[in-house]
Amino acid sequence: MLNDMERILLSEEEIKQRIQEMGNQISKDYQGKDLILVGVLKGSVPFMADLMKRIEIPCSMDFMAVSSYGNSTESSGIVRILKDLDFEIENKDILIIEDIVDSGTTLKYLKKYLASKNPKSVEIACLLNKPERRAVEIDVKYLGFEVPNYFLVGYGLDYAEKYRNLPYIGILKECVYKK
Ligand code: IMP
Ligand code: MG
Repeated sequence: MLNDMERILLSEEEIKQRIQEMGNQISKDYQGKDLILVGVLKGSVPFMADLMKRIEIPCSMDFMAVSSYGNSTESSGIVRILKDLDFEIENKDILIIEDIVDSGTTLKYLKKYLASKNPKSVEIACLLNKPERRAVEIDVKYLGFEVPNYFLVGYGLDYAEKYRNLPYIGILKECVYKK
């Protein structure tokens, strides 16, 4: 799989260190609150798994699945719920856990959807931000890294459902998806 990579952008070690810092901050900010982490399937899975182990206060977890890119590398701009929450979230403090904010469409939609269920608060923790591609305004409270506008894979990020299992984040060679 390393052959398909232009280069590695974020190593396993860099990701681990940043997530530790994010976990410390979240643990402080949510002390005494009723925290539910809502992971966005499937890209958030490695981030969610590592971040939750760095959160030192009681919390529960839930997941949602929404459709985004399909098999393409460009966003369709249309968001569809494929799997909804298991829990009621009224009066809870919700932290959405996502892999990357690109156009911002997905997170904007999700935040509004979750806010409509009357939680006490809804915030976002996102590992990566591609600010160049932003189409809608979105406030990400906990952000791991700003990244340049390349198509990235690994650590949850996929191309056509592959590469999610890589422990690092890499820039995919254009020849892999431009055929
Ligand atoms: P947005 O709605 O345009 O912000 O898109 C967010 C979703 O697009 C993310 O949850 C990812 O699944 C996907 N995505 C955006 N950029 C990349 C990338 O560089 N590699 C893989 N998936 C991406
Ligand atoms: Mg995603």
